[in-house]
Amino acid sequence: MTSRSEREQLLQDAHFNPFLLRAKDVTIDLLTDSGTGAMSSNQWAAIMRGDESYAGSESFYRFESVIRNLTAMPFILPVHQGRAAEKILFSITGGPGKYVLSNTLFDTTRANIEVAGATGVDLLCPEGKQPSLIAPFKGNMDEAALENFINDKGAGNISMVIMTVTNNSGGGQPVSMANIRNVKKICSGYGIPFFIDACRFAENCYFIKTREPGFQDRSILEIAQELFSYADGCTMSAKKDAFANIGGFLAMHNKALADECRNVLIITEGFPTYGGLAGRDLEAIATGLEEIVQEDYLAYRIRSIAYLGEQLDKEGIPYLKPTGGHALYLDAKAFLPHIPVDKYPAQALCCQLYIEGGVRGVEIGSVMFGKYDKDGKLIPAANELVRLAFPRRMYTQSHLDYVAEVIVQLYHSRSQITGLIITEETPYLRHFTAKFKPDTTKILQDDLQEIAL
Ligand SMILES: Cc1ncc(COP(=O)(O)O)c(C=O)c1O
Repeated sequence: MTSRSEREQLLQDAHFNPFLLRAKDVTIDLLTDSGTGAMSSNQWAAIMRGDESYAGSESFYRFESVIRNLTAMPFILPVHQGRAAEKILFSITGGPGKYVLSNTLFDTTRANIEVAGATGVDLLCPEGKQPSLIAPFKGNMDEAALENFINDKGAGNISMVIMTVTNNSGGGQPVSMANIRNVKKICSGYGIPFFIDACRFAENCYFIKTREPGFQDRSILEIAQELFSYADGCTMSAKKDAFANIGGFLAMHNKALADECRNVLIITEGFPTYGGLAGRDLEAIATGLEEIVQEDYLAYRIRSIAYLGEQLDKEGIPYLKPTGGHALYLDAKAFLPHIPVDKYPAQALCCQLYIEGGVRGVEIGSVMFGKYDKDGKLIPAANELVRLAFPRRMYTQSHLDYVAEVIVQLYHSRSQITGLIITEETPYLRHFTAKFKPDTTKILQDDLQEIAL
């Protein structure tokens, strides 16, 4: 625990970017659900069995067989985390003049597409763009927009369609099986490969089971197997729905593409039977993938986040509805309507959550996704959100009660919160390292008003 005045100083030292705080100074860490979960006793036991052979490790074959059972994909490449799979895939399939289409690309996915010279395009369904609207599958892709885009740019210029399940940047919202089926059908009609960014596939399948007619009596594993059956390939960060602290994979059906990917894998990650991971990591991932499809666990997880939403509803606090699979996303535009988007309201809210109660979230708004036009003016993101992502198997109901109290307290004093100005930034993924200072315009205006009175 830290005091409020300590946190004010710590945040100032971190240049108003919670990524730059030391974790020991954070009381409840909801920065990410990536790699932060608690591993089970079975995962730790599997780690002890890790086969560290350079080539042909038994741990690889176990990893491969669990993923093959899930995806039915013949070519499976281990990588050190999700973005390594993206880097390999897009450096081969991307390039200038190419487009990669998605429901919503995650930040690392978009960055890897752009670094490869291609353009990433989000085609989210209309419901997904309205934060307060309650709908079952707000992560869906807009099927009509997809067909229009393909016809407009020409199928030959589309490298692939990649569907993010659940849609992390779009509020952790799920994608329906019907949407996956339809998007696959459209892609097949034009000969465009269809991939899945499968980081949170099990959470997505739980939503399908509980919200989509026809799936109630099927197991999560069976639903996942159907979901993957429509895909030509997938990328996955095992730091999410595989309960691992590190790792990921790239899997696909196409042998020629797999051969090319394997060549890059050997150069950038390692030999194809370890790909940047230790044998023990492959074991932890294999066991994690077996555990994640347990329905009781998923029910507890999804319910926990809905519970936090219910606490906020009592006070009318705006958040992206309904609550997502791994996170609750505060709607900073509605929470702080007095802060303009170019003063980064979601970053300001994130900072104040830390000062108020030592809670660390992450900005998913114009710091993460904003761009500049040719005159250096900010092109803001569609939404200004603060994501509170819950590490798996980590926090209890009393932790959630504490988080709710902090948010409620902050909501009551929200008019005092001021915006931020960027003082330092990088061209790609600036949110990780950008530095800020408080926007003193409002404070100055208040002072002047006081003097005038
Ligand atoms: C949807 C999505 N895709 C890709 C990634 C990248 O994975 P990693 O952090 O393991 O590189 C993430 C990580 O948060 C993600 O949420």
